[in-house]
Amino acid sequence: MSDLPKIPRHVAIIMDGNGRWANQRGLPRLRGHEEGAESVRAVIRACREVGVHYLTLYAFSVENWVRPRMEIRGLMRLLRKFLQEREHELHENRVRLRVIGRVHDLPLPVQHGLSRVTKATASYDSGQLILALSYGGRAELAHAVRAIARDVEAGRLAPDAIDERTIGAHLYAPDIPDPDLLIRTSGEMRLSNFLLWQIAYTELYVTNVLWPDFREPEFAKAMEAYSHRHRRFGDTKDRDTIPEVKHAGR
Ligand code: IPE
Ligand code: IPE
Ligand code: MG
Repeated sequence: MSDLPKIPRHVAIIMDGNGRWANQRGLPRLRGHEEGAESVRAVIRACREVGVHYLTLYAFSVENWVRPRMEIRGLMRLLRKFLQEREHELHENRVRLRVIGRVHDLPLPVQHGLSRVTKATASYDSGQLILALSYGGRAELAHAVRAIARDVEAGRLAPDAIDERTIGAHLYAPDIPDPDLLIRTSGEMRLSNFLLWQIAYTELYVTNVLWPDFREPEFAKAMEAYSHRHRRFGDTKDRDTIPEVKHAGR
């Protein structure tokens, strides 16, 4: 456990910069992704060590499908390899694997691997690793709206009863608390369609370090930065959560 005064319960990461890391070395982009997979390993371990309970990793966006077929294939292969090689660590550490995103877009062997490991780890409670795959924040909100519309159509829900909690309850993983800290590597100052709803009050940490170079020391810097943040959630003093704001349904 860490001796920092404040540790985020949920860290979300936009793992960016694998291609640039490879380019800088005159290597194929896939080598950058391979090296990035090592950072994933390092960060999962670091989260365990400092006591971060939820780790959400943006591994493949809905927009990433426009990339060259070769790169997509390589990424999917790496994902399967990761599941095969790392599954035992999830069991050893009682970490639950979950997936958010349009899972049915993924190649069948990847879907099967994910489904097997998510089921096999479903009862674990020492930590959660959430992979965002074929994920888009807007796609997630559209998915939630469709589900809510079906409830309204079936007479289970009155339109005026729809509030923020209703929307939250229809997201891909409704029980997971909002991220406390969002890390983006490689210096890009954008969200790239990640967790749009959930990061309303998340602390942001952007580093120029490329994802394959983001290992324990860099993670420790992010934890240190977070420990000095003052989260006010609209209040005048520090507080722990978003205040429950009462407002009408319209
Ligand atoms: C992030 O690295 C990995 C994925 C998006 C899958 P990139 O592949 O986006 O690397 P850059 O941004 O081109 O350097
Ligand atoms: C965001 O990175 C998606 C993932 C890390 C999986 P991108 O490299 O796809 O984002 P943009 O295109 O630079 O915004
Ligand atoms: Mg990128």
